[in-house]
Amino acid sequence: MNILVTGGAGYVGSHVVKELLETEHQVITVDNLTKGHREAVLGGEFYQCDLGDYQELRKIFSQHQIEAVIHLAADSLVGESVTSPNKYYQNNLASGLNLLEVMLEHSVKKLVFSSTAAVYGEPKSVPIKETDPTEPTNPYGRSKLFFEKILADFDRAYNLKYISLRYFNAAGADNSGQIGEDHDPETHLIPLVLQTAQGRRQQLEIYGTDYKTRDGTCIRDYIHITDLARAHILAVEKLARRAESSIYNLGSGDGFSVREVIDTARKVTAHDIPAAPAERRPGDPPVLIASSKRIKEELGWQPQYDDLETIIATAWQWHKNNPTGYSS
Ligand code: UFG
Repeated sequence: MNILVTGGAGYVGSHVVKELLETEHQVITVDNLTKGHREAVLGGEFYQCDLGDYQELRKIFSQHQIEAVIHLAADSLVGESVTSPNKYYQNNLASGLNLLEVMLEHSVKKLVFSSTAAVYGEPKSVPIKETDPTEPTNPYGRSKLFFEKILADFDRAYNLKYISLRYFNAAGADNSGQIGEDHDPETHLIPLVLQTAQGRRQQLEIYGTDYKTRDGTCIRDYIHITDLARAHILAVEKLARRAESSIYNLGSGDGFSVREVIDTARKVTAHDIPAAPAERRPGDPPVLIASSKRIKEELGWQPQYDDLETIIATAWQWHKNNPTGYSS
């Protein structure tokens, strides 16, 4: 298939593109490069284009016989979404609608969508199932949930089939060491822990040590980026076999606390990683763990890198070789 990947120069996108390049599919990447890195796209066709640019998108669709879209382009900082909701609704919803419009014009009716655990808000119980209530607590989560609802309406009205993947905490880097996580600003725990190991930060702040968890710090479900990327390929291939639309959680099903992440990173890196308790970060749920039963049963997805040590080791390899990210 000719598959268009939006946001293919980002952390998740570059890993999805790399996995796709190892299949028989043709890859066309679209990214506006505001956050993404051109050198992270390891092959296929590349277009620097914003999804808000209707004319340019139409041109790309006219030049390639696109058969399916993997839509990852989005803003994804929870804190920023609270202070700049307009940016989130513009980029994650309005630009996404533009994409859907161009897809329909070209009769492209298969879409894999990158959604998030943030759609659940504060879960009532864990592990979280896809059927649990969705009550996002910030504009980022709401923008992703609204887009899922738009997709359901487009399915009913235009027969557009979609698979929405609700990511938990993506982490690690591709085994090749060619691509990895490079955000600016960096807000995610594992890269910050590793930058502290490298001495690029004096210490890690632990946001909250008085949660009702086994050691007082927040628990998250870390999923290796390659396992996450492979789920997109299973999803797009399932759609190609005329599957019905569905929504899947994507996590490893295991939870690790912030302290456990730091301890594992100390072991993997053999560096002392100074860490100090700090205030809670507003909006952080104490525990987020996915039930990934549905995706395992229906798509046959199985994580290959399911221990935290391996996940952190692959991230460490990337950080060591690229201490300042892609600019290294
Ligand atoms: N944390 C720290 N110190 C830091 C950074 C993070 O203690 O310097 C803690 C956070 O409070 C949280 C955990 O580490 O408990 C993980 O934080 P991340 O920022 O790495 O990830 P989040 O769980 O906040 O975010 C993830 C995705 C988001 C998504 C969100 C849904 O990265 O895209 O889950 O809640 F929106």
